[in-house]
Amino acid sequence: MTHTTPAFLQIHQADDAAVRRELAAGLVQSPAQVSPKFLYDALGSRLFSAITELQEYYPTRTEAGIFATQGADMASHIPARALLLDLGAGCCTKAERLFPVLRTAGYVAVDISVDFLRETLTTLQQRHPSLPMMGLGMDFSSSLALPPDTRPWLARHGLEAAPRVVFYPGSSIGNFSPPEALRLLRQAHAVCQGGGAGGGLLIGVDRVKPTDILEPAYDDSLGVTAAFNRNLLLHTNHLLGTDFDPRQWQHVAFYDSAQSRIEMHLQSAIAQQVRWADGERRFAAGERLHTENSYKWTPEGFVALLEAAGFRPAVHWTDEHEWFSVFWAEA
Ligand code: AVJ
Repeated sequence: MTHTTPAFLQIHQADDAAVRRELAAGLVQSPAQVSPKFLYDALGSRLFSAITELQEYYPTRTEAGIFATQGADMASHIPARALLLDLGAGCCTKAERLFPVLRTAGYVAVDISVDFLRETLTTLQQRHPSLPMMGLGMDFSSSLALPPDTRPWLARHGLEAAPRVVFYPGSSIGNFSPPEALRLLRQAHAVCQGGGAGGGLLIGVDRVKPTDILEPAYDDSLGVTAAFNRNLLLHTNHLLGTDFDPRQWQHVAFYDSAQSRIEMHLQSAIAQQVRWADGERRFAAGERLHTENSYKWTPEGFVALLEAAGFRPAVHWTDEHEWFSVFWAEA
């Protein structure tokens, strides 16, 4: 059978008022904070893509190298003919490389907005006409369960009993604190158990390593990461109507080894006031706005997290420097 068009499904999205409330609530906190999801407007996504090309930013190419050299070995642990659920699919290139390796039976690309997926999935479908595909717009950081509305699509393609492989590459899990990560992994475990035997989680995780490797990856010499971070202010101006001037904010990124995380902040260069329709926030010179955490894991720590989430003992693959690991954990 050939599928000329993918299926698309959007699960409710936060409305503009809810987004404004969330942003304003974070700005008036002390210290001020904005969720890293607001780094990704159209320009932010392109800046992140540029980050992945930087010499200093090792995670993307290191992970790609692990899949390229060890993908065949991974496939010997992962069930063939599975339903591949791609979390934060974006441009879908990482998943596409897995289709032949895993002999994928169905593909569900999950991203916060289905609109981001339409073009990519439509083109992807043309390259893989016999693979059933669905674009699913939902914020899986709040809840990961497969929505009931996907059932007719699964049934139509005979995928209800297929093993489910949840694919979460790129160390995106790093944005979650350990308790939040545990919660997400428990939900991923439940999703895997909803399908046939042998399903599980295939996840890319950035590892604890020396600070002199970690910090430049988040504070590169060209200032691309700085632009990515400061663009959050322009995005916030657009969403909330604030009057942030990115010129008055400095990019700060450092590794906190006690918490095993990179922290990104924007630091106010001067004493200033930021205003929006129904609020304001004063920032002292040097005061910071916290924009992102990126947690790093040891293999032992991450294996323990997976087991606490209900998964079987995991296997993992790494690169020659042991900078990044890809874990497979059967549900
Ligand atoms: C997309 C969350 C994996 O933490 O490395 C890159 C985001 N922030 N440079 C990461 C990011 C600054 C990235 N993740």
